[in-house]
Amino acid sequence: MKNIVVLVSGGGTNLQALIDAQNRGDITNGRIVCVISSNPNAYALVRARENGIETEVIRSRDYNYFAGYDKALTELVQSKKADLVVLAGFMTILGSIFIKAFENRIINIHPALIPSFCGEGYYGLRVHEEALRRGVKVTGATAHFVNEICDGGPIILQKAVEIKSGDTPEVLQRRVMEQAEWKILPQAVNLFCNDKIKVIGDTTEITE
Ligand code: GAR
Repeated sequence: MKNIVVLVSGGGTNLQALIDAQNRGDITNGRIVCVISSNPNAYALVRARENGIETEVIRSRDYNYFAGYDKALTELVQSKKADLVVLAGFMTILGSIFIKAFENRIINIHPALIPSFCGEGYYGLRVHEEALRRGVKVTGATAHFVNEICDGGPIILQKAVEIKSGDTPEVLQRRVMEQAEWKILPQAVNLFCNDKIKVIGDTTEITE
């Protein structure tokens, strides 16, 4: 059974999708052991507590140096004996100590079809604002491993979502979550927990 630690910053709808999948039995061979938030007021923490999941809060601004925060977060997650770290709307950049400690064991959900609308500055609603500004007709979500390149790690799963005329960033964000993020994130976690994801250089292969 793999130990899953979920890092959050906000509303936690992706965390909820993971909890629901776990409760339905759609995540086998893994369980969420702890939810760690960068924000003490994140609603995601309420969702975790309501489901009897342990919570922690760690804020980068409480550290004088980023390296100190990086080390503290790494040690906190290691103390939970994490086999897998899931970034579910985690809005703090991870440091190199953390990324090295959990190489190919950190999964992020990004609200666009990488390599579109990704990289530094592309997070949350901004991603959808940019997709609408550029006028793309299709967007979606990507579950990928995290490496030192922002949104540049090996892609695990992607799902496309149609953009409709009259979409606002908020409406589009909700559709991308419902149709893509809440589906592919639990699927990617389940694949990982069952050792079905093989990393080959910058890419992955899903084994059956
Ligand atoms: C989600 O749309 C997630 O994909 C995005 O933030 C939102 C968090 O919502 N993440 C990023 O933009 C990371 N670059 P949630 O807290 O309700 O899951």
